[in-house]
Amino acid sequence: VAKSVFHKSVLYKEVLEALSVRPGRTYIDATTGGGGHTRGILEFGGKVLGIDVDPGAIKYVAGVFKVPLKEVEGRLVGESEKLTIVQGNFADLKRIAERFGVWEASGILFDLGVSSHQLGEAQRGFSFQQEGPLDMRMDPHLAVTAADLVNGLNEGELDELFSKYGEESAGRRLARAVVRARVKKKIETTMDLAEIVERVVWKRGKIHPATRLFQALRIAVNDELNNLKKGLVEATEILNKGGRLVVISFHSLEDRIVKNFFKERADLQVLTKKPIVPEEEEILANRKARSAKMRVAEKQSAESRK
Ligand SMILES: C[S@@+](CC[C@H](N)C(=O)[O-])C[C@H]1O[C@@H](n2cnc3c(N)ncnc32)[C@H](O)[C@@H]1O
Repeated sequence: VAKSVFHKSVLYKEVLEALSVRPGRTYIDATTGGGGHTRGILEFGGKVLGIDVDPGAIKYVAGVFKVPLKEVEGRLVGESEKLTIVQGNFADLKRIAERFGVWEASGILFDLGVSSHQLGEAQRGFSFQQEGPLDMRMDPHLAVTAADLVNGLNEGELDELFSKYGEESAGRRLARAVVRARVKKKIETTMDLAEIVERVVWKRGKIHPATRLFQALRIAVNDELNNLKKGLVEATEILNKGGRLVVISFHSLEDRIVKNFFKERADLQVLTKKPIVPEEEEILANRKARSAKMRVAEKQSAESRK
């Protein structure tokens, strides 16, 4: 397991096994985050292009691997012999890779969602357990925050957002509560919103009632599902024959996209009929791992059929 406290890598050994890293080959870590999986690939002798949309993650990884950073076309970039790190969105994976000299990859990893670091930084607004501005942008260049959505969308739009992206059965009641609350006072902080939710939805088991609604807002603010769809297409294009595409998702909306994408592509052979999930021991040591599902596919030649 990665030593960093920035983020504890999920399914660490399973990812490295699935990527089946070969020395000297190039791998893309599309969500380098705290650099945990990146480190594993490097330790197996692979070269890595690490991408993350969050400049904070790129700065952290640059520090860990002692790669000097510079700005190239408005992005933070660090280049060393074995590791290149680039601030960017994996929706542009192919363009970013080619821009930094990677024309094909022997394996590509997506470890989706937020890092523990992002969740723990109250200022980022990802967590309903800490008071902070209702922001939720992974990329600070984005124009619209979660606060803009909860204060700006109408009741019908909020219902749709909560229901669709939060898979929330109480979407309508929550939308009404949000609209009623914001007439009295603009909803500005994570706690403002969590309190509104707590008034409307009861706690279900161990899961906090605001979990799904925060998930919905995060997906919308960062356009996560569309980025994932684009990223998977681009990754498949740049993957070598025999190369592995490894995706870890943390909720059913993402997992469904990955599962269907793998199934639909004639040039991908699915290696995981059922997703790989963390062992109990890992879940006990890292609660964030509990909802992780990893799917793996291998790139076939264009002619070969499934
Ligand atoms: C779960 S963390 C990855 C942790 C990493 N695998 C490790 O071992 O430390 C997910 C990371 O993906 C990044 N991310 C999310 N969406 C992205 C996107 N569309 N493009 C690039 N990075 C993204 C987040 O900023 C976050 O740092």
